[in-house]
Amino acid sequence: MVPKHIAIILDGNGRWAKKRGLPRTAGHTQGAKNIETISRAAYKMGVKYLTIYVFSTENWTRPQSEVDAIMKLLNNYLSDCLKNAKKNNMQVRIIGDKTRLSEDMQEKIAKLEEVSKQYDGLNLNVAINYGSRDEIVRATKKIATKVKDGEIDPNDITIDMISDNLDTKEIPDPDLLIRTSGEERLSNYLLWQLAYSEFYFTDVPWPDFSKKDLEEAIEEYGRRNRRYGNV
Ligand code: IPE
Ligand code: IPE
Ligand code: MG
Repeated sequence: MVPKHIAIILDGNGRWAKKRGLPRTAGHTQGAKNIETISRAAYKMGVKYLTIYVFSTENWTRPQSEVDAIMKLLNNYLSDCLKNAKKNNMQVRIIGDKTRLSEDMQEKIAKLEEVSKQYDGLNLNVAINYGSRDEIVRATKKIATKVKDGEIDPNDITIDMISDNLDTKEIPDPDLLIRTSGEERLSNYLLWQLAYSEFYFTDVPWPDFSKKDLEEAIEEYGRRNRRYGNV
C-alpha cells in the first residue's frame, strides 16, 4: 500500500557538504535540487500529498550568512515551482508563518498558490518558517478571538475545529513521516498531524536521498501494521 500522504524532514544538507569539504551552503544547493526529483518520483509512485520541511522557526538562529543563502535558494525554488507547476500538475501550498518572509517571497507564494490551485496531481506542501508549536499558538489565537467575539462557546471547541485552524486545514494527516540523515526526532514538525503516522528514519542525507530510497521507505511502510487509536 502506497501512503496517500508522506511528510519529510529533509535533513543532513550541512553534513553532506562537510563530508565533501564543501561549505554548508553547497549542501543546501544540492538539497534544493533534490526536492523536485523526489516530488516527481513520489507522485509517480502514487503519493497524493507530500509535505516537506525546508525551514523551521528555529532555523533563524543559524548564522545570518547561512539563513540568507537558504532564503535565496527557497526564493529560487518558488520561482521554479511557478514555472513547473503546470508541467508537474502540482498544487503547491506553503505552510508556516509567512509574515516573517521577505515581501518578494510572500508575493511569489501568493501567486504560486493561486496559479497552482487548478492542478490536480500532486499536492505539495512546503513548510517555510514552520514550527508546530507556533502553528498551534496561531490556531489558538484564531479560536480565542471567535470566543471573545461571541461567535462560539468554549464548549463548542472540537478536535476538528483545531485541525481546521491549523495551516494544514483540509490536508489529510500524513500516513508516513520520513526523516533523513540519522536524527530521530521531530524538531517541531507537525506535532498535531503526526499523532498516528508511521515513522521512518534513514541515515542517507537529504542531498543523496534517491527515488530508490523513497521506494524502500514506502516498502517498509507497507509492512507496518497500522493503528489509528480508535480501533
Ligand atoms: C537540513 O539540513 C536543511 C535545513 C534545516 C534548512 P541541515 O542544514 O540541518 O544539515 P545538517 O543537519 O546540519 O547536516
Ligand atoms: C529540522 O532540521 C528543520 C528542517 C529540516 C527544516 P534541523 O536540522 O534544523 O533540526 P535539529 O536542529 O537537528 O533538531
Ligand atoms: Mg539538521
